[in-house]
Amino acid sequence: MKTKRIVVLISGSGSNLQALIDQVHQDPQVPADIVAVISNRPDAYGLERAKTAAIPAQVLDHKTFPSREAFDSALQALIDTYAPDYVILAGFMRILTADFVSHYHGRMINIHPSLLPDYKGTHTHERVLADGKAEHGASVHFVTAELDGGPVIMQVKIPVLPSDTPELLAARLLTQEHRVYPEVVKQLVNDRIVLGAQGIEVEGRLLTQPLLLANG
Ligand code: GRF
Repeated sequence: MKTKRIVVLISGSGSNLQALIDQVHQDPQVPADIVAVISNRPDAYGLERAKTAAIPAQVLDHKTFPSREAFDSALQALIDTYAPDYVILAGFMRILTADFVSHYHGRMINIHPSLLPDYKGTHTHERVLADGKAEHGASVHFVTAELDGGPVIMQVKIPVLPSDTPELLAARLLTQEHRVYPEVVKQLVNDRIVLGAQGIEVEGRLLTQPLLLANG
């Protein structure tokens, strides 16, 4: 199988990026290279993680662009110099233009810290606690023009504990994000998951509800 080329976009800590780097380096069943990491924030710690792993790390600071369209078009040009098979958003805190999203249709995924379609947007942990939910989770989805609205590939669930604060809940969920994101990437780069005209196909079968990662 052809080795897939992955570009990862980040804005911050990059702990999900780290989970993906570790997987690509350690799992022989993942035929993929992370060929670049791009951050819209110059101070993103994930850039250090990329450098430590000898992955080209690039900054494209959105503040230096006059408009969202101008930034996205420069970002697209930069990404495409790496000829990626997949673009992986890992804590990339930007709303993307429809043109940018459609350019990577079926090739761009994101991880969102909620059980989509519930709790799109930010402050998901606070909102789950405020609503007294018994369960929380994370979703990996194909990116479409609708914010956090693309088809969901796989989810991981965790219980909400009586002692939880937003910070504790976020931290517990993050360790599960580090399991679910590499699992989806593994299936993607092995061509087991594709976005077809009718929706997500897993080994040729249309997915009627998101896959669920077993607890571990
Ligand atoms: C994660 O919670 C992810 O779900 C959200 O942003 C956070 C990124 O964390 N989209 P990190 O930068 O991967 O550590």
